[in-house]
Amino acid sequence: MSYETLLVDKADEITTITLNRPRAKNAMNPQMHLDMCAALAEVERDDGCRVLVITGAGDSFCAGMDVKEYFYDTDKSPGERAAARKAAFEWMFGRLRVLPKPTIAAVNGWCFGGAFAWLSVCDFAIASENAKFGLSEVNWGIIPAGGVTKLVSTLLAPRDALYLVMTGRPVSARKAAEMRLVNETVAPEKLRETVLDLAAELKKKNPTVLAYCKEVFRVDQTLSLEEALAFESAKWMELDAVGKKTWHQGVEQFKQERSYRPGLETYRWKS
Ligand code: ACO
Repeated sequence: MSYETLLVDKADEITTITLNRPRAKNAMNPQMHLDMCAALAEVERDDGCRVLVITGAGDSFCAGMDVKEYFYDTDKSPGERAAARKAAFEWMFGRLRVLPKPTIAAVNGWCFGGAFAWLSVCDFAIASENAKFGLSEVNWGIIPAGGVTKLVSTLLAPRDALYLVMTGRPVSARKAAEMRLVNETVAPEKLRETVLDLAAELKKKNPTVLAYCKEVFRVDQTLSLEEALAFESAKWMELDAVGKKTWHQGVEQFKQERSYRPGLETYRWKS
C-alpha cells in the first residue's frame, strides 16, 4: 500500500516507516495520522515483519504536530479536530504502544512536541548525534498534551521532565541519552547500521516470547506488585499454551546438548 505522507520499505523482515513531509520537517498533519493508523494495521497483520523501525525523511525526525493544519485550521471545527485527535491517539497508543513486535525509533534530526508521545512508546530509540529534542509547547502558549506530559513524567526523572516541559529549551542528542529519553546516540552515518544491528538481534529471539515480554511490561506499568505477580503468572501459563513450551528446547540445548549458554546467547527454537 502507498501513503500520501509516509514511505514504507520492507527488507529482511524489517519494515521501515519513514515520515515523509520533509518540507514541513515531517510535522504531523491530520492525513499523517490517518496514514499511520493504516500503515501500523498493515505492519501488525504482516507475518513477514519481525521488527518495525520509524524514522523521518530529510534532516528532521518529526517536528511535532503540524501547528497550522492540526491546530490552527481545525480551531473553528471541533469535529475535524476530534477526528484528527482520535486518529493520532489510535496509532500512537492503540497500535504502536502495544504492537506485538519490537519497535525502534531512529531519530535522525529535529524531534519536537507531539513527537515525544510516540517516541516514548517505541520500545527503543537510537538518535543521531545531530538530533535535537524539545518540548516547545510552552514556547508558543500551549501545554504538552496528548499524553506527552504523562509519558515524559514516567520515562524520565522528574527534574529532567519538568526542565523540558517548563523551559521549552531544545537539548542535544547526548543530553537526551543522559536523560534516558533515547537508548544511545551515534554518529549520523552510523544511525541506520546501529538500528539494523539491534533489529537483527531482536529477530533472533522467539517472536511469540518477545510479544509476551512487551505486553507484560506495558500492562505491569499500571499494576500494583500483587496484581503484577498474578498477571505475570497468568501470562506465563498463556504463553506455555500458545507458544508450546519452546523453553523445553532451550533447557535441553543448554543442559543435554551443551550447544549454547542462555546467559550469553539465544536458543534455537522450533514451534
Ligand atoms: N508545524 C507546521 N509546519 C512546520 C512545523 C510544525 N510543527 N515545523 C516546521 N514547519 C515548517 C515551517 O513552517 C517551514 O514551512 P515553510 O517552508 O512553508 O515556511 C518548514 O517547515 C521548514 O521549517 P523552518 O522553520 O524554515 O526550518 P528550520 O530548519 O529553520 O527550523 C525547526 C526547524 C526548529 C524544526 C522549526 O521549523 C520549528 O521550530 N518548528 C516547530 C517545532 C515545534 O515547535 N513543534 C511542536 C509543535 S507542538 C506539538 O507538537 C503538540
